[in-house]
Amino acid sequence: MKRIGVLTSGGDAPGMNAVIRAVTRTAIKNGMQVYGIRRGWNGLLNEDIKELSIRSVSDIIQRGGTVLYTARCKEFRFEEGLQRAKETCINLGIEGLVAIGGDGTFRGAADLSARGIPCVGIPGTIDNDIAMTEYTIGYDTAMNTAMELVDKLRDTAQSHDRCSVVEVMGRNAGYIALSTGIACGATYIVTKEMPFTIDDIVMRIVNTQTTGKHHFIVVVAEGMGNSQEIAKKIEQGTGIEARATILGHVQRGGSPTVQDRVIGSQMGHYAVELLVNGRGNRVVGMQKSVIVDYDIQEALKMKKHFSEELYRIAGEISF
Ligand code: F6P
Repeated sequence: MKRIGVLTSGGDAPGMNAVIRAVTRTAIKNGMQVYGIRRGWNGLLNEDIKELSIRSVSDIIQRGGTVLYTARCKEFRFEEGLQRAKETCINLGIEGLVAIGGDGTFRGAADLSARGIPCVGIPGTIDNDIAMTEYTIGYDTAMNTAMELVDKLRDTAQSHDRCSVVEVMGRNAGYIALSTGIACGATYIVTKEMPFTIDDIVMRIVNTQTTGKHHFIVVVAEGMGNSQEIAKKIEQGTGIEARATILGHVQRGGSPTVQDRVIGSQMGHYAVELLVNGRGNRVVGMQKSVIVDYDIQEALKMKKHFSEELYRIAGEISF
């Protein structure tokens, strides 16, 4: 392989730049040229592409976001879009691609691989909701950002004897909620993976109050309903003033943590080695702290584990 492309697609995640840097430098070390494809798969449709060099990826490992920009691309779901992308690759001599993103990105990578351009996916999303890997790039930074923000909310909740209801991101998954909740000593964590009722939350708060506690944190995963409404119901049920805060996109920004930089570098390096060894239609992941790879279709069929044990522990030590 003489030339490969690299792109970031879907929601950005801190650590994506570490992956871009590792991909670029590993490929150059292996005698290849690297093209940075901008704004996800869109870059292949409108040839928004620039060559990357050892120096052009300097000074990016510490930056949040993605220097290649990112976007979601509707056209790429259709045959016409896929054919146009394939033509761009052939015209520019791009023989393989590394695509960093979530499940949607991997579907695109599988479709393009099936049309003769070998692609390797790398999991990059703050949600950690990709089944084939225990870790996705951006998750650690997002959890730490959420934790710092909830700590700040706790200060003001404590001063006012209030309940702070905090909504964290996660799309449809409760991984950020679970880890942030346990790290911040939340009284209750609301996620779709575990059954809950407002009465359960109220009861937990009231019971905890009898042990002398006056302020409470309830962490709610995105998609579990209107946080303002949940706060209002908690206030009605407990008589304790409640305030809701949606953390939102602040969780996607910021300088990546050590973990996101190190694992991002490892995964980027690994992905290029797969291409060097002629292996496309693969997705890189982590299992038991070891970097592994799977066939993309197989990976997309896997089911993600949610640690009910950690959730149970969080509940048992929450009062
Ligand atoms: O997948 C990352 C994520 O931040 C989710 O947690 C959230 O549901 C979604 O992206 C938000 O997407 P957008 O940036 O398009 O609003």
